Amino acid sequence: MYNKLHLLTVTVVVLLVGCQGMPSEKPPIHPNPNMDHQEKFLPQALNPFFEDNRADRLPVEGTIARGQLAIDVAYHQGVYDNGDFVTKIPTAVNREMLMRGKVRYDIYCQPCHGGTGAGDGIIIGYGYVPPPSFNEERVINMPDGELYSSIYNGVRSMPSYRHQIPVEDRWAIVAYIRALQRSQGASENDLNRIGLNREVLTSTSTASDVAAATY
Ligand code: HEC
Repeated sequence: MYNKLHLLTVTVVVLLVGCQGMPSEKPPIHPNPNMDHQEKFLPQALNPFFEDNRADRLPVEGTIARGQLAIDVAYHQGVYDNGDFVTKIPTAVNREMLMRGKVRYDIYCQPCHGGTGAGDGIIIGYGYVPPPSFNEERVINMPDGELYSSIYNGVRSMPSYRHQIPVEDRWAIVAYIRALQRSQGASENDLNRIGLNREVLTSTSTASDVAAATY
């Protein structure tokens, strides 16, 4: 009895351990297939059931993903119902939003419009039509919605960036463009408020002196 059991144990152990690490062409044994294998259409597959033979179906017309109901036209498109540009950014503007706007501006707009909005981005040296400066009176006087619309719709030869930039970021960029414009036309008062004055800026002080005075 002892011998038979002993032999059986040894055989089972050898069987279990012996094959480990041996590559096999055959699929592994799958004792309980459950619902692992079932008929289905893989992405991009053909399905003759539909007229266009595509297994991938488009959402039913008018479908709106949760959280994407863009019913507030002023917020989403920068225009009022009558088509006029929204005059002021429709959300609260704070430091965090401005900093977000700066990061997004530097990614999406700065290569063409330049770090200060002067229209001297790096791409201009490569034959691209220079964009107008954001510091022109005409752009300064634009309603916020018009700047927003340039991102949402594009403007003349500039393409739309609506697919790259989500709605909150578009308004953050608009706020940052306003900050850029303000920075380029800073008044004596603006300078004093952050501890700078004309002498500091026009003296031989270095950029790091100015930064030290600012922060
Ligand atoms: C690929 C280069 C490029 C990028 C990137 C770009 N722009 Fe422009 N933008 C232009 C050009 C060129 C014009 C001028 C279009 C024209 O007049 O035909 C322009 C025009 C504008 C104007 C209109 C100014 C006016 O005079 O009416 C605004 C506002 C503007 N851009 C904002 C933005 C913002 C905001 C971004 C970033 C989200 C951005 N642009 C990204 C090239 C660019």
